[in-house]
Amino acid sequence: MPAGTATAISCPNIAFIKYWGNRDNARRIPANGSISMNLAGLYSHTQVAFGLTLEKDRLFLDGEAVTGAALRRASALLDRVRALAGVHERALVRSYNNFPTGTGIASSASGFAALTLAASRAAGLDLAEAELSRLARTASGSACRSIPGGFVEWRAGYDHASSYAFSIAPPEHWELTDCIAVISQSHKPTTSQEGHLLADTSPLQAARVSSAESRLRICRNAILARDFEALAQVTELDSNLMHAVMLTGSPGLMYWLPATILVMRSVQGWRRGGLPACFTVDAGPNVHVICPTSEAQHVIDRLNQLDGVIQVLSAAPGEQARLVTNNLD
Ligand code: DP6
Repeated sequence: MPAGTATAISCPNIAFIKYWGNRDNARRIPANGSISMNLAGLYSHTQVAFGLTLEKDRLFLDGEAVTGAALRRASALLDRVRALAGVHERALVRSYNNFPTGTGIASSASGFAALTLAASRAAGLDLAEAELSRLARTASGSACRSIPGGFVEWRAGYDHASSYAFSIAPPEHWELTDCIAVISQSHKPTTSQEGHLLADTSPLQAARVSSAESRLRICRNAILARDFEALAQVTELDSNLMHAVMLTGSPGLMYWLPATILVMRSVQGWRRGGLPACFTVDAGPNVHVICPTSEAQHVIDRLNQLDGVIQVLSAAPGEQARLVTNNLD
């Protein structure tokens, strides 16, 4: 029987404890567990339509046809869905992001989470959250954390079955805001997919990985207890550890721009001055500044005054990936 059409939306997420490096690159079994918060209001909106008349998978991102490696990555995920569902048709995929792609706001996380949910439903599957998370992980590691809602932990595990993400607290658990200082909107020179492969070339990666369990515990407890100071300290430490690994691999990766450092230093100064805010930076130059929502306007106003900050986006804790009815037609 021919499969159908489904549309899903999913938020990106920002990691407080980072995923960097895999113990199994092919299946994206990570070197360490990670913890993140979904970002409400930022979305990938993805429609999948399996069709008898299509000769190969076709992918449009923000209206532009995608080819090459990016299409192969989406097709590999569609192949896994087809194998699970016993479906043979190719798919037409149309995906839109309401935020800039390739700036360190993880569009691969939201994009592949939405693709996983839409494709599996269009193929007639009704998968449990953990299974959706595992499938999304095979396409992009951080995508597995955009399947569940709110504050999410990805347990590293050791094989496909044991490596998936789950919610540790719902979005309404803690009124936090991620104020994203956008510093560059150009595509990053080294993708995170390429970066993960270099993690083990840094002499610091082993130390980062072997101490990750204690940071995961501190972060999990800080979230559960809504302890901002504990969250701030462990989040900045973990971001700095990941960038230390990036900087000291071969070749070394430096994602920071001068304005990235200006924002990080400013945030630390504000915190010393009594403003609860902390930074974290992914594989790009933008700085995510986390603060209690009651302080968000204050933080946004200050960020807007810093040289090199192009704009500031803000996001509260976001929901899980979900199906929607409007099919983009
Ligand atoms: C720095 O999930 O983008 O954002 O699995 O190759 O798609 P792939 O990598 P990706 O890596 C994310 C790296 C990070 C940290 C994090 O989100 O945990």
